Amino acid sequence: MLEKMYQIVKDVNKNSYSPYSNYKVSACILCKDGTFISGVNVENASYGLSMCAERTALFKAISMGYKPGDFDKIMIYTNRNDSIPYPCGACLQVISELMGLDKEVIVTNDNHEFIINKVSDMLPFAFKKENL
Ligand code: THU
Repeated sequence: MLEKMYQIVKDVNKNSYSPYSNYKVSACILCKDGTFISGVNVENASYGLSMCAERTALFKAISMGYKPGDFDKIMIYTNRNDSIPYPCGACLQVISELMGLDKEVIVTNDNHEFIINKVSDMLPFAFKKENL
């Protein structure tokens, strides 16, 4: 399963629109029904409007009709061998709500090594809807 996800993130990485950072990120979600949904980072001349690959993929999945809890794991990749694309705090917050704290985040790069952590280990004090 991880090899299939790796193939997808490597393939769609070229679609990254990142002319400002030149840092190309791609993500792939494995849904519980077996569907793979990908996303890339999309930047803007107004830098703050840029969107990370992880959130692109999750928002795409929700737009397709998937619901929170429908997702099993997410892989994040950059096409370099000297950098590991750990998700930013904003993405971890979105991942925690839409995927759940018990799910796995796999980060990888061109070295083809997988670093696997649970969302709860990456964001131990997540803000939850129960806090509202
Ligand atoms: N980026 C992601 O898409 N995901 C990550 O996990 C780290 C950062 C993007 C945001 C921006 O377009 C570029 O990488 C440089 O920060």
